[in-house]
Amino acid sequence: MPARGQSPTGLEAVGSVAVRTFAAQKSPRMTQTAHQSMDGHHVNAMAGNGSGENRTHFADYDELPEGHFYDPDAEYEPDPEYAATLAPDAARQRRERVGPTGRPLPYFPIPGPLTDHGPAKIIAMCNQKGGVGKTTSTINLGAALAEYGRRVLLVDFDPQGALSVGLGVNPMELDLTVYNLLMERGMAADEVLLKTAVPNMDLLPSNIDLSAAEVQLVSEVARESTLQRALKPLMADYDYIVIDCQPSLGLLTVNALTAAHKVIVPLECEFFALRGVALLTETIEKVQERLNPELELDGILATMYDSRTVHSREVLARVVEAFDDHVYHTVIGRTVRFPETTVAGEPITTYASNSVGAAAYRQLAREVLARCHAE
Ligand SMILES: Nc1ncnc2c1ncn2[C@@H]1O[C@H](COP(=O)(O)OP(=O)(O)O)[C@@H](O)[C@H]1O
Ligand SMILES: [Mg+2]
Repeated sequence: MPARGQSPTGLEAVGSVAVRTFAAQKSPRMTQTAHQSMDGHHVNAMAGNGSGENRTHFADYDELPEGHFYDPDAEYEPDPEYAATLAPDAARQRRERVGPTGRPLPYFPIPGPLTDHGPAKIIAMCNQKGGVGKTTSTINLGAALAEYGRRVLLVDFDPQGALSVGLGVNPMELDLTVYNLLMERGMAADEVLLKTAVPNMDLLPSNIDLSAAEVQLVSEVARESTLQRALKPLMADYDYIVIDCQPSLGLLTVNALTAAHKVIVPLECEFFALRGVALLTETIEKVQERLNPELELDGILATMYDSRTVHSREVLARVVEAFDDHVYHTVIGRTVRFPETTVAGEPITTYASNSVGAAAYRQLAREVLARCHAE
């Protein structure tokens, strides 16, 4: 069993970015007992999560080590520290300053505060494969951007409503959803908008009603740009709008791509990850040519990465070989904390603020912001 604060690889699991040691602050905020879980993982029953709230968490080994707290104002720690938590060969990576993708890690600064907001950059989270981490990435990238003071709107564009559920909304109980905004002329966005528990982050929810839109839109004039028109009045109020696409390349996804400036493609680090990606990039190119010349692939996001398996490392290497600089330096590790957050109905940045998963999405937010500012 790995000791408290160590990953099973024996590496010290120091999270990504601004993590520093606060031995003095530890005791009143956290009381911990450790015991062995059924599957042999190290489990911490933890009262209090560093955000001051009292609740019980069952963490696995991916908690930050004792005494380490995420601190957004802390001095920036070099990214190789973060890489070391994800990659098997920590010493070599530190020495060569390469990240889990095998490339040198650039510096992603902590974003400064904004004095005014908008116009929004629209990001479509897109992959026609299900279960690759689109919804998880939408929620947690959104929450991390919001933590950095960006105004964020999340758009649930999947009739399954998983994004809404993940933010604690029951889709079955909704009278108005993004469907009404799309299909009813004169429907005001703020009638549909919901505030989330995360400051600076709002939600356009959806439910099964949206599946009707796919059929009804077919006979509409300019059917591919319906979402773009619906989002237009909201652009000035937000810095980022992130659209969680459904797992298909149908008309709803084409609407998301037509509305978007950027696409993020999450890829699960498993054998068939690259299958279907050619079709996806072809669709993106078609939308670029015919409907939205502004559209760009911002990046490929490797998710559910497990540095302990050769398989995961090989898949990641293949993805980097295929997409090169399009692959984000930030890689999201596999951890049971993500499924837990869905049950809790909140982002990992609030549910397990000090976890490596939360740190990874903060790092992703910084990388996305750095790419946007580089333009
Ligand atoms: N990094 C991760 N590690 C472990 N489980 C994850 C991770 N990201 C997502 N999951 C889980 O995998 C499942 C599918 O993720 P989801 O974000 O819903 O994918 P998609 O929206 O592409 O279908 C969910 O149960 C989610 O909690
Ligand atoms: Mg989803």
